[in-house]
Amino acid sequence: MGLLYEGKAKKLFTTDDSDVLRMEFKDEATAFNAQKKSEFEDKGKLNKAITLLIYKMLESKGVGTHLVADVDDINLLVKKVDILLVEVIVRNVAAGSFSKRVGVKEGTPFKQPIVEFSYKSDEHGDPLINDDYAREMGLATYEECEELRQKARVINDVMIDFFKECGLKLVDFKIEFGRTTDGSDIIVLADEISPDTCRLWDIETGEKMDKDRFREDLGGVMEGYASVLKRLQDQA
Ligand code: TMP
Repeated sequence: MGLLYEGKAKKLFTTDDSDVLRMEFKDEATAFNAQKKSEFEDKGKLNKAITLLIYKMLESKGVGTHLVADVDDINLLVKKVDILLVEVIVRNVAAGSFSKRVGVKEGTPFKQPIVEFSYKSDEHGDPLINDDYAREMGLATYEECEELRQKARVINDVMIDFFKECGLKLVDFKIEFGRTTDGSDIIVLADEISPDTCRLWDIETGEKMDKDRFREDLGGVMEGYASVLKRLQDQA
């Protein structure tokens, strides 16, 4: 079936069912808005398996996602949704762009999670925005921004516990949401949740197990991802 969209880490294909798409996870990796690029054997497989496990776990806790079914080692079937151009980032510990922007040392824990929004636009480098920007740019209403924040907090609570049981600290993550197009008009979790989109540190050693291994040239990128998958499988 036809290619509908190709992003940096995934491709979306149409299927026989107009409400369902096939999401293929690619081996390519990019960082810093694709200024840095590479390819890692089995990244697609690992991220597909990790996303599937996390989505199933979230569904079991009552979080609605666009997951429909597992297909094969690099493909999932997902409900067709209109992706909101608001990326939702949740931070439990200072790292990444937060530390860079405001000078708070990496590893500083927050008393409460920080939820922030960015405009999903590669052209503009996914800039930080707030509810007023989202409203004026027509990306989401005030009420929807509040809904995204609430959903993100619930997802954070559930994932903190899940990763903790796997010996991993959930430092931060980015999620995306979509509006269903089948008439139900609800907002569900969409896209992927993987070491590409989360920071995960080993609770014992503090070792980084996520895409920061690629961003910071730490080496063993896929070993980190494989370890995350193994821990999740042992836990599930
Ligand atoms: P940041 O600290 O670079 O803003 O990243 C926060 C979290 O969001 C981190 O877990 C990585 C994830 N992320 C993405 O998934 N995609 C992106 O394009 C960026 C910039 C971050």
